[in-house]
Amino acid sequence: NWTTGNFIEETIEEIRHQVGDKKVLCALSGGVDSSVAAVLVHRAIGDQLTCVFVDHGLLRKDEPEQVEKIFKEQFKMNFIRVNGHQRFLEGLKGVTDPEIKRKFIGESFIRLFEEEANKLGEMDFLVQGTLYPDIIESGTDTASVIKSHHNVGGLPEDMTFQLIEPFKYLFKDEVRAVGSALGLPEDIVWRQPFPGPGLAVRVLGEITEEKLEIVREADAIMREEIKNAGLDRQIWQYFAVLPNVQTVGVMGDERTYAHTVALRAITSSDAMTADWARIPHDVLEKISNRIVNEVDHVNRIVYDITSKPPATVEWE
Ligand code: XMP
Repeated sequence: NWTTGNFIEETIEEIRHQVGDKKVLCALSGGVDSSVAAVLVHRAIGDQLTCVFVDHGLLRKDEPEQVEKIFKEQFKMNFIRVNGHQRFLEGLKGVTDPEIKRKFIGESFIRLFEEEANKLGEMDFLVQGTLYPDIIESGTDTASVIKSHHNVGGLPEDMTFQLIEPFKYLFKDEVRAVGSALGLPEDIVWRQPFPGPGLAVRVLGEITEEKLEIVREADAIMREEIKNAGLDRQIWQYFAVLPNVQTVGVMGDERTYAHTVALRAITSSDAMTADWARIPHDVLEKISNRIVNEVDHVNRIVYDITSKPPATVEWE
């Protein structure tokens, strides 16, 4: 019979047996699967594991600092944070096409990861947070045709590693249980899905530092208020989007011409289909008021009420 405790013990034994005294690399995204995998493998083989976290500058507010704190300070792992801010921002200059954005980010991400991995010398194994549904769905994933998905799990084609995939027979809720049992904070264990290309696909059109700042602040407010309302585990995903639309508004006696922020929140069981979340109006009101009051250059908030299909979850 399957219990979290049995699974952890048995898997630790297997990993020790598989790895011996060899070296293991992990691409950490801060998402649930790679985080729990990293902690489990670390529990098994300690310092033989090195985690590389590529920070492309497109993450949510405080996210890179939080990830670094958990893995470096709490778990005392060999943890390398690669700062790719400049490189990604430069490369994205003038890029407006969603597919070109996605491809550039996916490829640069792998390149940066490889550069860092090469500095570490010979590595024999790569940890992947692959889940059972990833395996049964691969090949029939229509989403990957509609948008070219960048997934930290999909690393890297031309490097030769043996894979460690501790969760390949597990479902998400089981991975969450394992994560909790291993002492990962709730914030990570219950984190909502976040796309590999990050905020780049939530700032429509060209990406600038200023636009990223707007969407990052608005998103942080939305997350906070959804959590305060106790809705964070019911809603599959909830986030802010910057559609790159300026509209006329009024503030005091002054005319303003500023950005619109769109709020997106969906209920779903697998993100293949989704419905827009019926967030209570008073919660939406609070989010709206706070964003226009606290985030510069924003004078209008809209709520996305489309399901998937015909819309997708993300706007790009
Ligand atoms: P869409 O927008 O295709 O999103 O309806 C479906 C789910 O996938 C997430 N998403 C991604 N996840 N890499 C990922 O790992 C990506 O490139 C990516 N793009 C979208 C999205 O947030 C939703 O949960």
